[in-house]
Amino acid sequence: MSTRGLMGFLRSRFPVDPEKITSSLNEPVPNHMKRWWWCLGGTPAYLFCVQAITGILLTFYYVPEPSAAYESVAHITFEVPFGWWVRGIHKWAANFMIVAVVLHALRVYFTGAYRKPREFTWVTGAIILLITMVFGFTGYSLVYEQLSYWGATVAAELTTAAPLIGEPLAQIIRGGDEVGAGTLTRFFVFHIGVLPTALVLLLVVHLGLVRAHGVTELKFKVDAKKKVQHFSFFPDHLLTEIGIGLVLITVLSCFAVIFPAGLGEAADPLTTPEHIKPEWYFFFTFRWLKLAGLGTAVLSLGFAGFVFVFWPFFDRLIERLTRRNLAVPIGVLAVLAVLALTIWEALAH
Ligand code: HEM
Repeated sequence: MSTRGLMGFLRSRFPVDPEKITSSLNEPVPNHMKRWWWCLGGTPAYLFCVQAITGILLTFYYVPEPSAAYESVAHITFEVPFGWWVRGIHKWAANFMIVAVVLHALRVYFTGAYRKPREFTWVTGAIILLITMVFGFTGYSLVYEQLSYWGATVAAELTTAAPLIGEPLAQIIRGGDEVGAGTLTRFFVFHIGVLPTALVLLLVVHLGLVRAHGVTELKFKVDAKKKVQHFSFFPDHLLTEIGIGLVLITVLSCFAVIFPAGLGEAADPLTTPEHIKPEWYFFFTFRWLKLAGLGTAVLSLGFAGFVFVFWPFFDRLIERLTRRNLAVPIGVLAVLAVLALTIWEALAH
Protein backbone atom coordinates (compact mmCIF):
# COMPACT_ATOMS: atom_id res chain seq x y z
CA MET A 1 0.00 0.00 0.00
CA SER A 2 1.35 3.45 -0.93
CA THR A 3 1.76 6.16 1.74
CA ARG A 4 -1.19 8.03 0.28
CA GLY A 5 -3.31 4.85 0.37
CA LEU A 6 -2.30 4.21 3.98
CA MET A 7 -3.20 7.79 5.00
CA GLY A 8 -6.57 7.46 3.24
CA PHE A 9 -7.20 4.13 5.01
CA LEU A 10 -6.37 5.62 8.41
CA ARG A 11 -8.38 8.81 7.83
CA SER A 12 -11.51 6.88 6.91
CA ARG A 13 -11.15 4.57 9.95
CA PHE A 14 -10.22 7.34 12.39
CA PRO A 15 -12.20 10.37 11.19
CA VAL A 16 -10.21 12.95 13.20
CA ASP A 17 -8.74 16.00 11.53
CA PRO A 18 -4.91 15.96 12.15
CA GLU A 19 -4.92 19.76 11.86
CA LYS A 20 -7.35 19.94 14.81
CA ILE A 21 -5.12 17.66 16.91
CA THR A 22 -2.06 19.78 16.13
CA SER A 23 -3.86 23.03 16.91
CA SER A 24 -5.30 21.67 20.20
CA LEU A 25 -1.78 20.64 21.23
CA ASN A 26 -0.29 23.85 20.01
CA GLU A 27 -0.93 25.98 23.05
CA PRO A 28 1.06 29.23 23.10
CA VAL A 29 3.45 28.93 26.06
CA PRO A 30 4.97 32.01 27.77
CA ASN A 31 8.66 32.53 27.01
CA HIS A 32 9.84 31.91 30.59
CA MET A 33 8.92 28.22 30.09
CA LYS A 34 12.00 27.87 27.89
CA ARG A 35 13.98 27.38 31.09
CA TRP A 36 13.84 24.08 32.94
CA TRP A 37 13.24 25.50 36.42
CA TRP A 38 10.06 27.23 35.19
CA CYS A 39 8.63 24.18 33.40
CA LEU A 40 9.52 21.54 36.00
CA GLY A 41 6.05 19.97 35.76
CA GLY A 42 7.03 17.93 32.68
CA THR A 43 9.90 16.22 34.54
CA PRO A 44 7.82 14.25 37.10
CA ALA A 45 5.45 13.31 34.26
CA TYR A 46 8.39 11.83 32.35
CA LEU A 47 9.76 10.11 35.46
CA PHE A 48 6.34 8.60 36.15
CA CYS A 49 6.47 6.98 32.68
CA VAL A 50 9.95 5.61 33.50
CA GLN A 51 8.52 4.20 36.75
CA ALA A 52 5.59 2.57 34.96
CA ILE A 53 7.86 0.82 32.41
CA THR A 54 10.54 -0.33 34.89
CA GLY A 55 7.82 -1.24 37.43
CA ILE A 56 6.09 -3.55 34.93
CA LEU A 57 9.45 -5.25 34.22
CA LEU A 58 10.09 -5.74 37.96
CA THR A 59 6.58 -7.18 38.48
CA PHE A 60 7.44 -10.02 36.04
CA TYR A 61 9.83 -11.40 38.69
CA TYR A 62 8.65 -10.00 42.03
CA VAL A 63 6.68 -12.34 44.34
CA PRO A 64 4.44 -10.49 46.88
CA GLU A 65 4.65 -13.08 49.64
CA PRO A 66 6.67 -12.77 52.90
CA SER A 67 8.47 -16.10 52.37
CA ALA A 68 9.53 -15.24 48.81
CA ALA A 69 9.55 -11.41 48.40
CA TYR A 70 13.12 -10.83 49.59
CA GLU A 71 14.44 -13.80 47.58
CA SER A 72 12.69 -12.54 44.43
CA VAL A 73 14.30 -9.09 44.83
CA ALA A 74 17.69 -10.82 45.29
CA HIS A 75 16.99 -12.87 42.14
CA ILE A 76 16.18 -9.66 40.19
CA THR A 77 19.31 -7.95 41.52
CA PHE A 78 21.86 -10.73 41.07
CA GLU A 79 20.55 -13.20 38.47
CA VAL A 80 18.02 -11.73 36.04
CA PRO A 81 19.88 -10.19 33.03
CA PHE A 82 19.93 -6.39 33.51
CA GLY A 83 17.66 -6.82 36.55
CA TRP A 84 20.09 -4.74 38.66
CA TRP A 85 19.88 -1.95 36.07
CA VAL A 86 16.06 -1.92 35.88
CA ARG A 87 15.84 -1.99 39.69
CA GLY A 88 18.44 0.78 39.98
CA ILE A 89 16.59 2.99 37.49
CA HIS A 90 13.28 2.33 39.30
CA LYS A 91 14.80 3.24 42.65
CA TRP A 92 16.58 6.39 41.45
CA ALA A 93 13.70 7.59 39.27
CA ALA A 94 11.47 7.35 42.39
CA ASN A 95 13.86 9.62 44.31
CA PHE A 96 14.26 12.00 41.36
CA MET A 97 10.47 12.13 40.95
CA ILE A 98 10.02 13.22 44.56
CA VAL A 99 12.69 15.92 44.13
CA ALA A 100 11.14 17.10 40.83
CA VAL A 101 7.58 17.23 42.25
CA VAL A 102 8.80 19.18 45.30
CA LEU A 103 10.80 21.65 43.16
CA HIS A 104 7.82 22.11 40.83
CA ALA A 105 5.54 22.76 43.85
CA LEU A 106 8.08 25.28 45.24
CA ARG A 107 8.29 27.17 41.95
CA VAL A 108 4.48 27.26 41.70
CA TYR A 109 4.23 28.39 45.33
CA PHE A 110 6.82 31.15 45.26
CA THR A 111 5.53 32.58 41.96
CA GLY A 112 1.97 32.61 43.38
CA ALA A 113 0.80 30.57 40.36
CA TYR A 114 -1.71 28.68 42.58
CA ARG A 115 -3.91 31.76 43.11
CA LYS A 116 -7.34 32.34 41.60
CA PRO A 117 -8.41 30.75 39.22
CA ARG A 118 -5.81 27.96 39.58
CA GLU A 119 -6.68 26.78 43.14
CA PHE A 120 -7.70 23.31 41.99
CA THR A 121 -4.59 22.90 39.85
CA TRP A 122 -2.75 23.25 43.18
CA VAL A 123 -5.14 20.96 45.10
CA THR A 124 -4.78 18.13 42.54
CA GLY A 125 -0.99 18.70 42.42
CA ALA A 126 -0.69 18.62 46.22
CA ILE A 127 -2.61 15.31 46.42
CA ILE A 128 -0.30 13.98 43.68
CA LEU A 129 2.70 14.92 45.85
CA LEU A 130 1.29 13.01 48.82
CA ILE A 131 0.54 10.03 46.55
CA THR A 132 4.13 10.14 45.23
CA MET A 133 5.39 9.84 48.82
CA VAL A 134 3.05 6.90 49.53
CA PHE A 135 4.35 5.31 46.30
CA GLY A 136 7.88 5.56 47.71
CA PHE A 137 6.82 4.15 51.08
CA THR A 138 4.92 1.14 49.70
CA GLY A 139 7.69 0.42 47.16
CA TYR A 140 10.34 0.46 49.90
CA SER A 141 8.24 -1.98 51.96
CA LEU A 142 7.95 -4.48 49.07
CA VAL A 143 11.69 -5.29 49.26
CA TYR A 144 10.91 -6.94 52.60
CA GLU A 145 14.28 -6.31 54.14
CA GLN A 146 14.65 -5.41 57.83
CA LEU A 147 14.11 -1.67 57.33
CA SER A 148 11.11 -2.24 55.03
CA TYR A 149 9.45 -4.49 57.60
CA TRP A 150 10.09 -2.26 60.61
CA GLY A 151 9.28 0.90 58.62
CA ALA A 152 5.84 -0.55 57.84
CA THR A 153 5.41 -1.59 61.50
CA VAL A 154 6.23 1.94 62.73
CA ALA A 155 3.91 3.53 60.10
CA ALA A 156 0.99 1.32 61.19
CA GLU A 157 1.64 2.23 64.85
CA LEU A 158 1.64 5.92 63.95
CA THR A 159 -1.71 5.53 62.24
CA THR A 160 -3.27 4.20 65.45
CA ALA A 161 -2.62 7.60 67.07
CA ALA A 162 -5.06 9.35 64.71
CA PRO A 163 -8.33 10.11 66.54
CA LEU A 164 -11.39 7.90 65.82
CA ILE A 165 -10.21 6.35 62.54
CA GLY A 166 -6.68 5.47 63.78
CA GLU A 167 -7.19 1.88 64.96
CA PRO A 168 -9.47 0.70 62.10
CA LEU A 169 -7.16 2.39 59.58
CA ALA A 170 -4.11 0.59 61.02
CA GLN A 171 -6.01 -2.71 60.74
CA ILE A 172 -6.84 -1.94 57.11
CA ILE A 173 -3.20 -1.05 56.32
CA ARG A 174 -1.79 -4.16 58.06
CA GLY A 175 -4.56 -6.49 56.94
CA GLY A 176 -4.59 -7.87 60.50
CA ASP A 177 -3.02 -7.25 63.90
CA GLU A 178 0.58 -7.44 62.69
CA VAL A 179 2.63 -6.66 59.61
CA GLY A 180 2.77 -9.85 57.53
CA ALA A 181 1.34 -11.54 54.46
CA GLY A 182 -1.83 -9.39 54.50
CA THR A 183 0.21 -6.20 54.64
CA LEU A 184 2.47 -7.18 51.75
CA THR A 185 -0.50 -8.05 49.51
CA ARG A 186 -2.13 -4.71 50.31
CA PHE A 187 1.05 -2.70 49.74
CA PHE A 188 1.60 -4.53 46.46
CA VAL A 189 -1.96 -3.89 45.23
CA PHE A 190 -1.64 -0.23 46.22
CA HIS A 191 1.80 0.14 44.66
CA ILE A 192 0.99 -1.39 41.29
CA GLY A 193 -2.77 -0.74 41.00
CA VAL A 194 -4.53 1.75 43.26
CA LEU A 195 -1.84 4.45 43.42
CA PRO A 196 -0.96 4.46 39.68
CA THR A 197 -4.68 4.67 38.78
CA ALA A 198 -5.28 7.51 41.26
CA LEU A 199 -2.17 9.34 40.05
CA VAL A 200 -3.11 9.04 36.37
CA LEU A 201 -6.68 10.26 37.03
CA LEU A 202 -5.42 13.22 39.07
CA LEU A 203 -2.80 14.01 36.43
CA VAL A 204 -5.48 14.10 33.72
CA VAL A 205 -7.41 16.67 35.79
CA HIS A 206 -4.19 18.57 36.70
CA LEU A 207 -2.95 18.83 33.12
CA GLY A 208 -6.49 19.50 31.84
CA LEU A 209 -6.70 22.47 34.22
CA VAL A 210 -3.21 23.67 33.19
CA ARG A 211 -4.32 23.51 29.55
CA ALA A 212 -7.68 25.19 30.25
CA HIS A 213 -6.22 28.10 32.25
CA GLY A 214 -2.98 28.34 30.31
CA VAL A 215 0.32 28.69 32.17
CA THR A 216 0.54 31.80 34.40
CA GLU A 217 2.15 34.69 32.54
CA LEU A 218 4.99 35.81 34.76
CA LYS A 219 6.48 39.26 34.34
CA PHE A 220 10.11 39.75 35.26
CA LYS A 221 11.68 43.04 36.33
CA VAL A 222 14.07 43.11 33.33
CA ASP A 223 11.27 43.24 30.78
CA ALA A 224 8.29 44.27 32.92
CA LYS A 225 7.29 46.89 30.37
CA LYS A 226 7.31 44.48 27.44
CA LYS A 227 4.34 42.25 26.60
CA VAL A 228 4.88 38.59 27.57
CA GLN A 229 6.10 36.70 24.50
CA HIS A 230 5.05 33.18 23.62
CA PHE A 231 6.28 30.15 21.71
CA SER A 232 4.36 27.08 20.61
CA PHE A 233 3.95 23.94 22.71
CA PHE A 234 4.10 21.70 19.63
CA PRO A 235 6.75 20.99 18.50
CA ASP A 236 9.02 23.52 20.34
CA HIS A 237 8.19 22.78 23.98
CA LEU A 238 7.73 19.07 23.33
CA LEU A 239 11.24 18.89 21.83
CA THR A 240 12.66 20.63 24.94
CA GLU A 241 10.90 18.03 27.13
CA ILE A 242 12.25 15.17 24.99
CA GLY A 243 15.77 16.66 25.35
CA ILE A 244 15.33 16.85 29.16
CA GLY A 245 14.09 13.23 29.11
CA LEU A 246 17.20 12.02 27.25
CA VAL A 247 19.50 13.80 29.71
CA LEU A 248 17.54 12.38 32.65
CA ILE A 249 17.67 8.75 31.47
CA THR A 250 21.45 9.12 31.01
CA VAL A 251 21.85 10.56 34.51
CA LEU A 252 19.57 7.83 35.96
CA SER A 253 21.65 5.13 34.25
CA CYS A 254 24.84 6.61 35.71
CA PHE A 255 23.26 6.61 39.20
CA ALA A 256 22.07 2.99 38.73
CA VAL A 257 25.65 1.95 37.83
CA ILE A 258 27.58 4.06 40.37
CA PHE A 259 25.12 3.68 43.28
CA PRO A 260 23.34 0.35 42.57
CA ALA A 261 20.16 -0.51 44.47
CA GLY A 262 21.41 -2.61 47.39
CA LEU A 263 19.81 -5.19 49.61
CA GLY A 264 19.95 -5.16 53.42
CA GLU A 265 19.22 -8.07 55.74
CA ALA A 266 15.98 -10.03 55.18
CA ALA A 267 12.98 -9.02 57.33
CA ASP A 268 12.98 -10.63 60.76
CA PRO A 269 9.81 -9.95 62.79
CA LEU A 270 11.56 -11.17 65.96
CA THR A 271 14.57 -8.82 65.84
CA THR A 272 14.04 -5.06 66.00
CA PRO A 273 16.96 -3.31 64.25
CA GLU A 274 19.01 -0.88 66.34
CA HIS A 275 18.25 2.11 64.12
CA ILE A 276 14.99 2.31 62.18
CA LYS A 277 15.15 4.97 59.47
CA PRO A 278 12.58 5.70 56.80
CA GLU A 279 13.45 6.98 53.31
CA TRP A 280 14.97 10.50 53.35
CA TYR A 281 11.72 12.21 52.30
CA PHE A 282 10.09 11.05 55.54
CA PHE A 283 13.00 12.20 57.72
CA PHE A 284 11.23 15.44 58.72
CA THR A 285 8.12 13.58 59.90
CA PHE A 286 10.25 11.05 61.79
CA ARG A 287 12.26 13.74 63.60
CA TRP A 288 9.07 15.66 64.40
CA LEU A 289 7.60 12.48 65.84
CA LYS A 290 10.59 12.07 68.17
CA LEU A 291 10.35 15.73 69.25
CA ALA A 292 6.59 16.16 69.66
CA GLY A 293 5.49 12.70 70.77
CA LEU A 294 3.10 10.36 68.95
CA GLY A 295 -0.29 12.04 69.49
CA THR A 296 0.80 15.65 68.89
CA ALA A 297 2.97 14.70 65.89
CA VAL A 298 0.21 12.77 64.12
CA LEU A 299 -2.38 15.51 64.73
CA SER A 300 -0.06 18.38 63.73
CA LEU A 301 1.20 16.56 60.61
CA GLY A 302 -2.39 15.77 59.61
CA PHE A 303 -3.31 19.44 60.03
CA ALA A 304 -0.18 20.58 58.11
CA GLY A 305 -1.06 18.17 55.27
CA PHE A 306 -4.60 19.58 55.16
CA VAL A 307 -3.34 23.18 55.03
CA PHE A 308 -0.83 22.21 52.31
CA VAL A 309 -3.51 20.62 50.08
CA PHE A 310 -5.95 23.51 50.50
CA TRP A 311 -3.29 26.22 50.74
CA PRO A 312 -4.78 28.57 48.05
CA PHE A 313 -7.91 28.95 50.23
CA PHE A 314 -5.95 29.43 53.48
CA ASP A 315 -3.78 31.97 51.66
CA ARG A 316 -6.85 34.00 50.67
CA LEU A 317 -8.27 33.77 54.21
CA ILE A 318 -5.00 34.97 55.76
CA GLU A 319 -4.83 37.83 53.26
CA ARG A 320 -8.41 38.86 54.05
CA LEU A 321 -7.84 38.75 57.82
CA THR A 322 -4.45 40.50 57.91
CA ARG A 323 -4.79 42.60 54.70
CA ARG A 324 -1.26 41.47 53.88
CA ASN A 325 0.18 38.88 51.59
CA LEU A 326 2.13 36.59 53.92
CA ALA A 327 2.59 33.65 51.50
CA VAL A 328 6.33 34.20 50.97
CA PRO A 329 7.37 34.47 54.67
CA ILE A 330 5.11 31.50 55.56
CA GLY A 331 6.58 29.50 52.67
CA VAL A 332 10.17 30.34 53.66
CA LEU A 333 9.49 29.36 57.29
CA ALA A 334 7.88 26.06 56.23
CA VAL A 335 10.76 25.18 53.88
CA LEU A 336 13.35 26.03 56.56
CA ALA A 337 11.52 23.94 59.17
CA VAL A 338 11.28 20.90 56.86
CA LEU A 339 14.95 21.30 55.85
CA ALA A 340 16.12 21.65 59.47
CA LEU A 341 14.18 18.56 60.62
CA THR A 342 15.42 16.56 57.59
CA ILE A 343 19.09 17.47 58.17
CA TRP A 344 18.75 16.83 61.92
CA GLU A 345 17.37 13.34 61.30
CA ALA A 346 19.96 12.64 58.59
CA LEU A 347 22.83 13.48 60.97
CA ALA A 348 21.37 11.58 63.94
CA HIS A 349 22.46 7.99 64.56
C1 HEM B 1 3.50 14.08 39.01
C2 HEM B 1 3.38 15.31 39.48
C3 HEM B 1 3.08 16.56 38.66
C4 HEM B 1 3.07 16.73 37.31
C5 HEM B 1 3.40 15.70 36.24
C6 HEM B 1 2.70 18.11 37.05
C7 HEM B 1 2.62 18.68 35.78
C8 HEM B 1 2.46 20.04 35.54
C9 HEM B 1 2.74 20.72 34.30
C10 HEM B 1 3.28 20.06 33.03
C11 HEM B 1 2.45 22.04 34.47
C12 HEM B 1 2.66 23.17 33.44
C13 HEM B 1 3.69 24.21 33.93
C14 HEM B 1 4.99 23.67 34.47
O1 HEM B 1 5.54 22.71 33.91
O2 HEM B 1 5.47 24.21 35.50
C15 HEM B 1 1.94 22.20 35.82
C16 HEM B 1 1.49 23.39 36.37
C17 HEM B 1 1.03 23.54 37.68
N1 HEM B 1 1.18 22.61 38.70
FE1 HEM B 1 1.81 20.71 38.47
N2 HEM B 1 2.46 18.74 38.24
C18 HEM B 1 2.70 17.84 39.26
C19 HEM B 1 2.62 18.09 40.61
C20 HEM B 1 2.23 19.31 41.17
C21 HEM B 1 2.27 19.62 42.58
C22 HEM B 1 2.83 18.69 43.66
C23 HEM B 1 1.72 20.88 42.72
C24 HEM B 1 1.48 21.69 43.98
C25 HEM B 1 1.40 21.22 45.18
C26 HEM B 1 1.36 21.37 41.39
C27 HEM B 1 0.74 22.58 41.10
C28 HEM B 1 0.68 23.16 39.85
C29 HEM B 1 0.11 24.47 39.54
C30 HEM B 1 -0.59 25.43 40.53
C31 HEM B 1 0.35 24.71 38.18
C32 HEM B 1 0.01 25.98 37.38
C33 HEM B 1 1.31 26.77 37.21
C34 HEM B 1 1.19 27.98 36.33
O3 HEM B 1 0.11 28.27 35.85
O4 HEM B 1 2.24 28.62 36.15
N3 HEM B 1 1.71 20.40 40.48
N4 HEM B 1 1.98 20.96 36.47
